[in-house]
Amino acid sequence: MEEVKVAKKRMLSGIQPSGDLHLGNYLGAMKNWIGLADEFDCFYFMADMHTITVRQNPADLRRRTLEQMAQYIACGLDPEKNVLFVQSHVHQHAELGWVLNCFTMFGELSRMTQFKDKSAKNAENINGGLFTYPSLMAADILLYQTDLIPVGHDQKQHCELTRDIAQRFNGIYGNVFKIPEPYIPKAGARIMSLNAPETKMSKSLPDGCVFLMEKPEDIQRKFKRAITDSDTENCVRFDPENKPGVSNLMNIYSAVTGRSFEQIESEFAGCGYGAFKPAVGEAVIETLRPIREEATRLLADKAYLEGVCRSGAEKASYVAEKTLRKVYKKVGFLPR
Ligand code: TRP
Repeated sequence: MEEVKVAKKRMLSGIQPSGDLHLGNYLGAMKNWIGLADEFDCFYFMADMHTITVRQNPADLRRRTLEQMAQYIACGLDPEKNVLFVQSHVHQHAELGWVLNCFTMFGELSRMTQFKDKSAKNAENINGGLFTYPSLMAADILLYQTDLIPVGHDQKQHCELTRDIAQRFNGIYGNVFKIPEPYIPKAGARIMSLNAPETKMSKSLPDGCVFLMEKPEDIQRKFKRAITDSDTENCVRFDPENKPGVSNLMNIYSAVTGRSFEQIESEFAGCGYGAFKPAVGEAVIETLRPIREEATRLLADKAYLEGVCRSGAEKASYVAEKTLRKVYKKVGFLPR
């Protein structure tokens, strides 16, 4: 019987190299990406162009972009199976971004909650890029005729706008862009800050945040100081409502060991928090150790990383150029 090959759906995600990657990024997102390459045609890029909407230190941005690439590979994202690239290496992003700016309305951009939040936080630098960021994000997505965008809640509004822009453009010029769908990934763990379990783990709360490249002894110290709950029970039990600190640690432990909450409860029955916290720390250290070591090894091999970036940019650019040519033709630009 003849084999029918069904094309894989294309998935694309951009991540800003604006801070060091941490355990929340890893357990909440990156870890789930590894298996996706079997099912989808995956593109991941370092969204460096997006990061400069907020002032960056140039040397730090360069370092973090390369480090992030190394950490993705170290986590198991195989550059042979996924297209990994740096956004600014593929000039078509900026070019389509400009065109789409002209198909995005001032009113639409004004309604973006991320713009409102970020301009409130950076009142001294409310620049045009911060405002038109969603048009560039739409370009990132539409350039690749993307089917699926795996996004968290904070990016849903930008994905909706991307669909509106694509539909508007297609309505005028015919079917140029595929209309992408948001993809809700299989529940990644939602990791909270170790010392403020009501807020998400984030680089802006460094004491409660475990970074992927952090030294084991620093990780263990953070776990030992993790806030457990002020109940008098001193008992490892999953109850996010009344015991958010302990439940967060259980969530982390479950994500890194694969054990269920019941298994964890019986494992630590009668032990109290004093024994539980360092056990979670130890499990996290062992999970991150191979990642840190592999990332360190890759970072020492600049030629290899540059090769990955170059070949990723070539693959991406090949796809992006086809879309851009079509768009330029449709809007009436004179061919070169
Ligand atoms: N805006 C996203 C964020 O801040 C990053 C991003 C840029 C992105 N372009 C994208 C995500 C395209 C998905 C698809 O997290």
